[in-house]
Amino acid sequence: MNIGSIRISSTPVLALAPMAGYTDAAFRTLIAQRGADLVFSELSSASALARKHGAGFEQDKNTRRLMQVGDFGITGIQLFSSSPADIGAAVTLLRREIEAGKCKARIIDLNFGCPAPKVVRNGAGSALLADESKVAAIAAAAVNAAGQIPITAKIRLGYRNKNNIQTAKALEDAGICALTVHGRTAAQKFSGKSDWKSIGEVVDAVSIPVFGNGDVREPADVQKIMDESGCHGVMVGRAVLSNPMFFSQARQYLDSGRFEPVSWADKIRFMREYILLMPRFDLPFHAAKDLAIQLSVGFRGSARLRGELMKVKNGEELMASMQNAAPHAKSEP
Ligand SMILES: Cc1cc2nc3c(=O)[nH]c(=O)nc-3n(C[C@H](O)[C@H](O)[C@H](O)COP(=O)(O)O)c2cc1C
Repeated sequence: MNIGSIRISSTPVLALAPMAGYTDAAFRTLIAQRGADLVFSELSSASALARKHGAGFEQDKNTRRLMQVGDFGITGIQLFSSSPADIGAAVTLLRREIEAGKCKARIIDLNFGCPAPKVVRNGAGSALLADESKVAAIAAAAVNAAGQIPITAKIRLGYRNKNNIQTAKALEDAGICALTVHGRTAAQKFSGKSDWKSIGEVVDAVSIPVFGNGDVREPADVQKIMDESGCHGVMVGRAVLSNPMFFSQARQYLDSGRFEPVSWADKIRFMREYILLMPRFDLPFHAAKDLAIQLSVGFRGSARLRGELMKVKNGEELMASMQNAAPHAKSEP
């Protein structure tokens, strides 16, 4: 698959979904090491970034974190805004950092899918889907500012009503290099089921690569979403939070029809590596706690462990809780 000038040879291309609160640079690095080709940062406000332009933004903790990239995988930074001017300014800022070698991200992604009230209230995220001309204006501003850096976008099927094909075509015409489609409308939030057939309508309507997204829960679902939609790549979010081996299992499954189940030891190793990476990326301790709580999902005894994890105060206590939980932590069938 080509995403602009970036060639990715794996088939299918597997991508870690952007997830606010989880997909920091440490998590992205470790998931890329475990089989994801592409990894995306959580959404960041382009308008906030645009305001910092030229005003010592390097000193700003959030901006520094946004630009951090680990040693594995191809990283996309996701931006959101309702303002084409702010998107243009933020992309210009990122482009300069990338061209100067200060930021190792290689893709900039635009968020047209977030249904959170604080984003939608400002006319950004999924609210933009209600008006394809606004989507096109934002995308064009990003593409114009990006130089050689590929701009990608992530959409839902529509805001209240489906307009997946029109939105996808508007994005392609604006020069977007690849598109991810989460098969729900914004009004659905996370209810119902991701409609993989409607993702297929986008695949048929555009000639850029399309990533299918939504409800890929098992390694076998990677094949199913591709069969049902014809998508070229698959993006996975929630399933990876509780199973950091997901992409490696998916690759095993696609190659052989079987895969190694994730073990508690895999999760402990993942957590330990995450804690070791935290200082490099200046991550707050609650990020480790939040991750450990996600990792405990799907194991017997996880409710008790989660109670303990709420109380831990440092990395050693956290690791001790996870290790002590091991005897109860039998993988569910
Ligand atoms: C905790 C959480 C945070 C999310 N944050 C973002 C985000 O920052 N940007 C975005 O485009 N989507 C975000 N999403 C949506 C996911 O990227 C993805 O589209 C959605 O979870 C469906 O895929 P899944 O069924 O594989 O999880 C988030 C989802 C979750 C669960």
